[in-house]
Amino acid sequence: MKLAVMGDIHGNHIALKACIAHALEHKADEFIFIGDYITDCPYPQKTMRIIYEMQRRYRCYFIRGNREDYMLNHRNNPQERWTYSSASGNLLYTYENLSEQDMDFFESIEIHGVYDKKNYRKFRYCHGSLTSSKELLLPDNENMESIMKGLDVDLLISGHTHIQESRMYGEKKLIHPGSVGVPWYYEGRSQYMILHSIEDVNHPFGWEEEFFQLPYDVGRVREELESSGLYEKAPYWAKLVTHALETGEDYTTPCLTMAMDLCREKEGNVQWPDIPVKYWDMAYTHFIH
Ligand SMILES: [Fe+2]
Repeated sequence: MKLAVMGDIHGNHIALKACIAHALEHKADEFIFIGDYITDCPYPQKTMRIIYEMQRRYRCYFIRGNREDYMLNHRNNPQERWTYSSASGNLLYTYENLSEQDMDFFESIEIHGVYDKKNYRKFRYCHGSLTSSKELLLPDNENMESIMKGLDVDLLISGHTHIQESRMYGEKKLIHPGSVGVPWYYEGRSQYMILHSIEDVNHPFGWEEEFFQLPYDVGRVREELESSGLYEKAPYWAKLVTHALETGEDYTTPCLTMAMDLCREKEGNVQWPDIPVKYWDMAYTHFIH
């Protein structure tokens, strides 16, 4: 059995197509999608079209990421303030370009899943952690040891970190397949993995991961960012996403944090998403030279 595991697509349908084509060439039998299908790259409907086509044509498993949770929360709380600005413009743009069908699809899936099939070793997968779509399963997470210790299987797969790596915690293994759409490191090449089932009953996990980093047409994503209007609707966010796509260095979160800190320092308070442009500009020039 070969399982293609893809996560953190973030609306990058061009990278997604490259990964799917590669996985099919490598004879992937099934696909596991571990969330964050949308936001950051434009035209989310193009990504969702591919997702539905995959669902029709192949054996696929889907779970939800924190970005889908943001969309669902917004549907349930329409009074939540999202404006066209660097902080929330990308979310608002994505929300306006999703259909009811997309929202219902997100609502129908869980934030974690279990692969439990006869003749194969059971493992679990999630976007963030098994209990939160936005928890980062990284070594500096203070819950890390107890999460892995409490796991009822030997292998856990999670996304959200955008870092492609595997780590051991005691006898248990945690694998991050990396990000399809806004990949970190490897000069921004698109990342996913194939899990190969291992027949040896003495194998510690029953599965072995093979990581891939694929070049794709980043220039086309940049063109779509331009044509979508995202450089006007979410100026600094779109510029930071472009930088991440072109280099594999993602400063979106540190830049947002710094802009908010600067605003709080100078104005005495800060209210997301209303962060004045001058603080975005200061933070942006701090990170991007
Ligand atoms: Fe995420």
